[in-house]
Amino acid sequence: MGRIGSPTGHLVTADSEGDRDGEVTRVADFTARLEMTPESTRFVRDEPIAREAYDRLADAYAARVEDKAHNAYYDRPAVLSLLPSLHGKRVLDAGCGPGIYTAWLAERGAHVLGLDVSARMLEHAERRLQGRAAFRLADLGQPLDFLPASEFDLVVSGLAFDHVRDWGRLFVELFRVLRDPAHIVFSVAHPFDEYYDHHPSGSYFDLERVEMVFDWKAFGVRVSVPYYRRSLGAMLDPLLAAGFRLERLLEPRPTQEFRIRDPDDYAKLMRQPGFICVRATKDSTGSQRTSSGHDGE
Ligand SMILES: C[S@@+](CC[C@H](N)C(=O)[O-])C[C@H]1O[C@@H](n2cnc3c(N)ncnc32)[C@H](O)[C@@H]1O
Repeated sequence: MGRIGSPTGHLVTADSEGDRDGEVTRVADFTARLEMTPESTRFVRDEPIAREAYDRLADAYAARVEDKAHNAYYDRPAVLSLLPSLHGKRVLDAGCGPGIYTAWLAERGAHVLGLDVSARMLEHAERRLQGRAAFRLADLGQPLDFLPASEFDLVVSGLAFDHVRDWGRLFVELFRVLRDPAHIVFSVAHPFDEYYDHHPSGSYFDLERVEMVFDWKAFGVRVSVPYYRRSLGAMLDPLLAAGFRLERLLEPRPTQEFRIRDPDDYAKLMRQPGFICVRATKDSTGSQRTSSGHDGE
């Protein structure tokens, strides 16, 4: 077998007997355990495809996100409803953007590290938090080597994983930095909506790089943001393969506030899903220690 490129950009030999830093084994393991499609077994470098777009979008996004309907009255209520108790917990806000989740978590007593690939987004987050959380410029598509193992009680991620190609590596890395027991809660674009409503050509089962245009005239921005569309199976398989146990898969409905802001999109989102939220646990004992849903923050 020839040499293949890993998402980290290193070259590894799939049939080599040597195991440089465990990497050869890990690549082979992923392929075997996930029964990946031919598309996802092609290990290409996992570029931060959306960095430039979010740098350009950051000012407008930071100004809008607090009450932008899809974020404030659709995504956030759903994600927040899945969080475990937060007081005193160490939380990684993965793809934190301008820090709106970070602020919510910090206000409830969590010690938060916000991580994002956009420096401009992090400037907004730092301004919002004023020292009440730590931030780090980092790419979720790369190993998070600067983080020790078993560092966090919870990973939260709102609408960021869509921009990362290789979820096999992503979830292994997030599993590593979580304690035992711990939770991961994240939202992404709904795979059915993405395929049937936005990108119906090709095959539903393909991992596909696509784009979405944010045309916010009031802010003078028109930015095309790249992301990856993938099937529901391609979302859950790498999560489970990394060792997480699925606790909840939420297809949220928009809140009443959304209806007031945007009745047309409200009607659409009451008919068909736009986002999907996942809560999973790292718990090697397999016990029923976790609670269902938001537990009294
Ligand atoms: C839709 S915004 C969501 C921000 C925030 N979680 C929220 O809900 O307001 C997506 C965020 O993911 C970040 N992002 C995109 N690709 C990333 C990557 N490879 N690594 C880390 N962050 C990334 C973007 O810079 C952006 O801040």
